[in-house]
Amino acid sequence: MSRFHQDFSAIFDIRYLIFDVRTTNHELRTTILGVKHRMMKVTVLTLFPEMFAPLQESILKRAQEAGLVKIHLVDFRDYAASKHKNVDDVPYGGGAGMLLKPEPIFAAIRDLPQPEGKRRVILTSPQGNVFHQAKAEEWFEQDELVFICGHYEGFDERIRELADEEVSIGDYVLTGGELAAMVMIDAVVRLIPGVLGEDTSAQEDSHSISLLEYPQYTRPADFEGRQVPEVLLSGHHARIKQWRRKESLRRTFLRRPDLIKAVTFGVDDYPLLEELLLEHEEIAEWQVLWKHLCPRPKRRRKSLKNPEGKQSQELPLRELEVSEIDI
Ligand code: ADE
Repeated sequence: MSRFHQDFSAIFDIRYLIFDVRTTNHELRTTILGVKHRMMKVTVLTLFPEMFAPLQESILKRAQEAGLVKIHLVDFRDYAASKHKNVDDVPYGGGAGMLLKPEPIFAAIRDLPQPEGKRRVILTSPQGNVFHQAKAEEWFEQDELVFICGHYEGFDERIRELADEEVSIGDYVLTGGELAAMVMIDAVVRLIPGVLGEDTSAQEDSHSISLLEYPQYTRPADFEGRQVPEVLLSGHHARIKQWRRKESLRRTFLRRPDLIKAVTFGVDDYPLLEELLLEHEEIAEWQVLWKHLCPRPKRRRKSLKNPEGKQSQELPLRELEVSEIDI
């Protein structure tokens, strides 16, 4: 490894002594107290390594200390060949601003250690595909992520060929890719088992299940007259579960209706959806999405008094076969 590669902390070096870090089947693994864990490597090519100080706080700091992730910062200015370490230059053809030059970034990428497993190189740019939870989950399968942080007014087009993909964190322009890289690193690292308190926490994310999270409360039950909903104090688990599902649906319909299309509605949702329809008439436009849930057709009962079967009785909900759905 060259002198240009900076590791985050001395703690990390100490960890090498305490825990046995080894490579098995091209996968980085770390053994913590006898239990093997996968270790993800994240490499960031940036002109501003100091900007990544927030990754040394809180959960990400603990994840690094536990050997679940190794974050490696590379200042690609160190790879600039010129005496003044220039990393940018004026655009051919004229125009405002300076562009990142290809040579330092190519040299920095070429100097990275051989990948030990699956590696993805990501270029941060407002022109890329927009990052989302599914992308974080896809990258979580990789052994190493390499982020190239664009900066200044842009970069030489040839830099694009170094990347497997170009990713934006949203339709706005930042001063550079560092904040974007940090956002994406955080979203991926928290998926690694052991990084969050419980392994299940990440799986229950609102965006993973395409519903926004229901409102949550903690003590006191009455804060300056603002009451916690009664049902949450009831201890009635089934009712609480139902209330939470309904509130998640409500929030998603009202705040992020674009997510609703990905929701799988089950029979138990039907009464909740009926209630929500009465409470928010704008929800009606999405009714087609739960068309496959419908009350069974009314059954006519024939009897001596009613030989034509005129009385009807509504039967419980059923889910229609796909072939029965008229979309
Ligand atoms: N660099 C500048 N703006 C960006 C954005 N929105 N996403 C990723 N990288 C960027």
